[in-house]
Amino acid sequence: MKNVVLIGMMGCGKSSVGRVLAQRLGMGFADTDQCIEAALGRSIPEIFATEGEAFFRDWELGVAEELARKENLVIACGGGLPTRPDAIASLKYSGTVIFLDRDGEDIYDHVSMDHRPLGQAGREAFLERCRQREPVYRQWAEHIIPSRATAQETAQAVLEALQ
Ligand code: S3P
Repeated sequence: MKNVVLIGMMGCGKSSVGRVLAQRLGMGFADTDQCIEAALGRSIPEIFATEGEAFFRDWELGVAEELARKENLVIACGGGLPTRPDAIASLKYSGTVIFLDRDGEDIYDHVSMDHRPLGQAGREAFLERCRQREPVYRQWAEHIIPSRATAQETAQAVLEALQ
């Protein structure tokens, strides 16, 4: 089966929904952030602090290209991956892109930003980033799924869209 590629703002639930989806579909699961952390042996905050965002984005592209050569995977993308057209284009070629659409204020109020370097600049900066990215996510998505109360419910909505 071709891949299922989850995109959306940090904290929208890509990893938790992705794990449920992978189980329900009998597919593997990959998370681009985890791939980068495993390859470099460092956490995302450490990578941002020591090497900077551009370095991280280059790794994100490399991981996207590598995952795009595989199949039968549910792939949770880092929130900024679709801002690199080359990265998201390779993944779109490999599968169906789903935008998990969760309101930015809801994310900021309920999701921890502790391990998210780009979530540290305060509420207004976060909401502005959401506004800038939303059209990008919409542009690449084949399906737009509003996030539901639980990962199970959101995964169910994705499964229905995939049918
Ligand atoms: C980022 C989102 C993070 C991670 C990094 C940058 C972003 O992933 O890739 O901190 O630019 O939105 P999650 O979306 O999994 O939090």
